[in-house]
Amino acid sequence: MKIGIIGCGHVGLVTAACFAQKGNSVFCVDNDEQRINMLRAGRMPFYEPGLEDMILTNIRNRRIVFSTRIKDAVNTCEALFISVSTPSMPSGALDLSAVEHVSREIAVNMRSYKLIVEKSTVPVRTCDKVHQTIKKYVPRGVSFDVASNPEFLREGSAIYDSMNPDRIVIGVSSKRAENILKRLYKPFKARIITTDIKSAELIKHASNSFLAMKISFINAVANVCELADANIDEVAYGIGMDNRIGHAFLKAGTGYGGSCFPKDVSGFIAIADSLGYNFGILKEVQKTNLLQRQYMVRKIESELWIVSNKTIGILGLAFKPDTDDIREAPALDVIKMLLEKGAKIKAYDPKAMENVKKVFPDITYCKNAYETADKADCVAVLTEWKEFAGMNLKKLKNIMSHPTIIDGRNIFDPAKIRKAGFTYHSVGRP
Ligand code: UGA
Repeated sequence: MKIGIIGCGHVGLVTAACFAQKGNSVFCVDNDEQRINMLRAGRMPFYEPGLEDMILTNIRNRRIVFSTRIKDAVNTCEALFISVSTPSMPSGALDLSAVEHVSREIAVNMRSYKLIVEKSTVPVRTCDKVHQTIKKYVPRGVSFDVASNPEFLREGSAIYDSMNPDRIVIGVSSKRAENILKRLYKPFKARIITTDIKSAELIKHASNSFLAMKISFINAVANVCELADANIDEVAYGIGMDNRIGHAFLKAGTGYGGSCFPKDVSGFIAIADSLGYNFGILKEVQKTNLLQRQYMVRKIESELWIVSNKTIGILGLAFKPDTDDIREAPALDVIKMLLEKGAKIKAYDPKAMENVKKVFPDITYCKNAYETADKADCVAVLTEWKEFAGMNLKKLKNIMSHPTIIDGRNIFDPAKIRKAGFTYHSVGRP
């Protein structure tokens, strides 16, 4: 099938790579010329394991082409996926102007039937607006369908998630649209859930918000564990053994970040508000998540008392491992709070330092974890990169001014690390 992907961000590029890998011809469009030139040269605009190889293979096989012109994609393709960004506005609602713009551009260039598929994360009823817009601008007599096909990939394992989905959700209002999407997804051999369009839109916001709620819940329980001298690892394991709850997303830590959960939780609150429902639970989820970052600073302070002029080594800057993405990363807030209190910050992340340099140009960036810990009064782990858990504890202890670790991701075994001679605090563990 010939498929157009409008918007070459994380979702767009991964979707394009996977569709091409399954034998489709994919036409990728982005209005950022620099990004398109980079992609044509085989360079990725962000780090995602496996993406570059898959894109390069399919460029070579001529199954992926890149362009800045929506018109070319509309001329050539039967189905057009919209995967442009939908950033949060200060109110928490999403800015949908890119979706509107792309819908218009698609409409004016249509000469025959097209299926327009909304893949960006959008509030419920957005597809109605897309439909309305296309209807207004499409040449008379040209038919079309709009569908919703939300994406559930995780950064860092996006290719795996897209090639092996738990489920594929398609929200459609015609048999023709349903058939096209089912044909396209058949090679993925996954369960396809067909719904009405608004329900599909809601499934995405509700899924991400539910996962964020699980994380805030377990972080709240971890805080109670600390007060009660119980152990969150054991509590989370015990809870997760109930099949109705499950173990996933019950890892306590410094809270969630990234481009999805924070934005989707506030987006869901905003759309619910505008429909007349006060989504109070989700407001608490947000609050708990932000408090978790403050608790990290409080833990550091309770160990060092005055942080002013003390050297604090930050291990991990990305919002999670295996990505260079720092959007809404807890580490950024923690660093900001510590700098405001006069601390000196040394930092290291295997992938995300170049991005953080743009936010904090004046802190010290290190070549590795040991250099970060060198002469530090305290080290704080804020992202659970594998290489941190495997550090040589003896070496680490010898280079620190005061061997103190505040483990915001519970990567170390408390007994082992105390035996190695460290003062150690983690999240929700005695
Ligand atoms: C999330 C969802 O997991 C995807 O299904 C969804 O498609 C995606 O958002 C999206 O909307 O595009 P992602 O943001 O890439 O994916 O990352 P996750 O792996 O879900 O992690 C999100 C945050 O939660 C990270 O900061 C992570 O450290 C944190 N987290 C996760 C915890 O603190 N505890 C956990 O147990 C799990």
